[in-house]
Amino acid sequence: MQIKLPFMRKTKRATEQLDKGIELDLHTIPEHVAIIMDGNGRWAKERGLPRIAGHKEGMSNVRKVVASASKHGIKILTLYAFSTENWNRPKTEVEFIMKLPMEFLNTYLPELVEENVQVQTIGDFDGLPSHTKKAIQEAKDQTRGNNGLILNIALNYGSRHEIIRAIHSIVQDVQNSEISIDDINEELYSSYLYTNGMIDPDLLIRTSGEQRLSNFLLWQSAYTEFWFTEKYWPDFDEQLLKQALLDFQNRKRRYGGI
Ligand code: IPE
Ligand code: IPE
Ligand code: MG
Repeated sequence: MQIKLPFMRKTKRATEQLDKGIELDLHTIPEHVAIIMDGNGRWAKERGLPRIAGHKEGMSNVRKVVASASKHGIKILTLYAFSTENWNRPKTEVEFIMKLPMEFLNTYLPELVEENVQVQTIGDFDGLPSHTKKAIQEAKDQTRGNNGLILNIALNYGSRHEIIRAIHSIVQDVQNSEISIDDINEELYSSYLYTNGMIDPDLLIRTSGEQRLSNFLLWQSAYTEFWFTEKYWPDFDEQLLKQALLDFQNRKRRYGGI
């Protein structure tokens, strides 16, 4: 006998809704969607290509996903592009990944400006190579006045690093008498994180079949809905995004209540 778990029923419902052409409820679109863009290496390997070909394809897929997120009225799209642990990869792969923002933004930046997208980043920006920083800074500067979708790129991001960094700053501010220990609460703590000012992600998507956070948004995802797909990131498309959004809309968020 096949045991049907509630989440399987819901995923099936979303698939059936897609097949029937059921549209999304525009009132309950998640405001903040975060994606762990995983599986570039395996995508390439399955095609007999080097891993870096997967990263290139993955990068160009960002363009399409940003356009559909924007179309669906998502306010913040946070994309996990490089973790603090990804430095452990071979030097050539890391160097290739660090050149991608420059290459990508060379052709894509005018489109981002035009589409009213605002580029932001979370993570240790100073720890990036100067050419990567330059390209991203240019994108941030040119899109600063935009008020459409926030494209928030998690680059050299690690949640544990972010948490320790926040603790350092809080301790420093207590020592300098800028805040007192009694001021420290969830709200104040959140304001010391890279995501200061952003609402927590409503929906977190991870591609490639892995079902873990890999040091992504640990504090911020306390009540986030998770959605996983076996598809590799370069194959993640508008249909899958829609399926994830439909599935999200079928869920009941309780926040500990009943
Ligand atoms: C995600 O794809 C991109 C980065 C982590 C930079 P991977 O490179 O992790 O691809 P897999 O997981 O090895 O297939
Ligand atoms: C997470 O993917 C980081 C990014 C997608 C940027 P990884 O491929 O690094 O995660 P693990 O190593 O499988 O947990
Ligand atoms: Mg991976």
